[in-house]
Amino acid sequence: MTPARRDTLLWLAQRWSAAVLALCLLVHLAGIIYAVRGGLTAAEILGRTRGNAPFGIFYGLFVVAISIHAPLGLRAILTEWTGWRGRSQGLAMAALAVLLLGLGLRAVWAVVQ
Ligand code: HEM
Repeated sequence: MTPARRDTLLWLAQRWSAAVLALCLLVHLAGIIYAVRGGLTAAEILGRTRGNAPFGIFYGLFVVAISIHAPLGLRAILTEWTGWRGRSQGLAMAALAVLLLGLGLRAVWAVVQ
């Protein structure tokens, strides 16, 4: 794959992940309004989230989208500001993506299980 083609695909991934994030944000805000009425103590929150598969799938998707979006955005900014590019940069951004994915999915699992 040529570098130009790879950059185009990564840019598309960032755009699509941004669109998913915008939708997730709307659902998340609606969820916050609902949650405020239902109570915000740890017990009340866990009472709503435990065993709630749709909740887990939704926030899992949110985590996947941000794990794609944030490292790609950071990659563009690092390239622009520092000139860092190439394989080492790609590996560092992939590591960041895996870290965000791991921490995020672990957090979702902690409130859903
Ligand atoms: C609801 C959450 C978010 C939405 C809706 C969103 C949306 C967007 C959009 C529409 C763009 C422009 C994409 C393009 O020009 O193709 C963008 C760029 C960017 N986003 Fe996000 N974003 C969100 C969260 C985040 C988070 C949490 C981070 C980092 C921790 C982040 C980092 C970036 C960066 C660094 C860019 C600039 C990339 C560049 O200059 O090429 N975004 N975002």
